[in-house]
Amino acid sequence: MNILIIGGNRGIGLELCRQYATRGARVLATCRNAPGLLRESGAEILDGVDVSSARGIRKLQSGLGKTPLHLLIHNAGKLTRENLDDMDFDRIENQFIVNTLGPLRVIHALYDHLLPKSRIGIVSSRMGSLGDNTSGGMYGYRISKAAVNAAGVSLARDLEPMKIAVALLHPGLVATDMTGGRGIPPSKAASGLIEVMDQLTLANTGRFWHAEGYELPW
Ligand SMILES: NC(=O)c1ccc[n+]([C@@H]2O[C@H](COP(=O)([O-])OP(=O)(O)OC[C@H]3O[C@@H](n4cnc5c(N)ncnc54)[C@H](OP(=O)(O)O)[C@@H]3O)[C@@H](O)[C@H]2O)c1
Repeated sequence: MNILIIGGNRGIGLELCRQYATRGARVLATCRNAPGLLRESGAEILDGVDVSSARGIRKLQSGLGKTPLHLLIHNAGKLTRENLDDMDFDRIENQFIVNTLGPLRVIHALYDHLLPKSRIGIVSSRMGSLGDNTSGGMYGYRISKAAVNAAGVSLARDLEPMKIAVALLHPGLVATDMTGGRGIPPSKAASGLIEVMDQLTLANTGRFWHAEGYELPW
């Protein structure tokens, strides 16, 4: 089984690589420039893959060659915090470029590597849920994750005839650089996401899942 993890060098992505490799899968993992602990994860490393640039996507395509993919998880993402008193539109735009257009660019570039019964996971966030937004703020992150959810549903519809299923994923609040170390261990989040991906079929494609296994509101 060939598995591609986009953004595998730290945090949740690194744990996904470790756990899938331990299961015996062939794991290919991307990073931008510093593989770090990814070197010891058992994954094959594709470096120079910045999902915000056409150049990064070309690097990904050339690194992959013709490798077929049974599972693709787009994990890479970024978070900055904007509120009404600090509305930095460049930062908001940058999160949209990475968190929304990044997964769309990657999946658009690679969907011909997928096979019938291949699966795609897009690591989104509960922060992108409109129904769950009770605390406001976080403009760029919320917008970018809500938008990637919209893209993910369209991808699920468009890829269904090719028998490819898509899940939008929320890992929980996870102790990584992104949260300043607050939350559950990345290993727990990754094992939950892997369980959700194990259950993904065409019968439940295009839905938004918490890593604990329940559905989230859009
Ligand atoms: N942690 C949480 O509580 C939480 C909650 C909900 C959702 N999420 C989502 O889970 C995913 C992983 O988050 P994390 O907590 O593990 O964060 P993290 O530790 O900050 O890791 C982020 C990963 O994304 C990569 N990345 C960022 N910008 C990129 C770009 N332009 N091109 C390619 N890769 C890029 C980073 O690579 P570099 O090392 O090169 O920067 C790194 O591998 C993200 O999509 C995040 O939004 C996290």
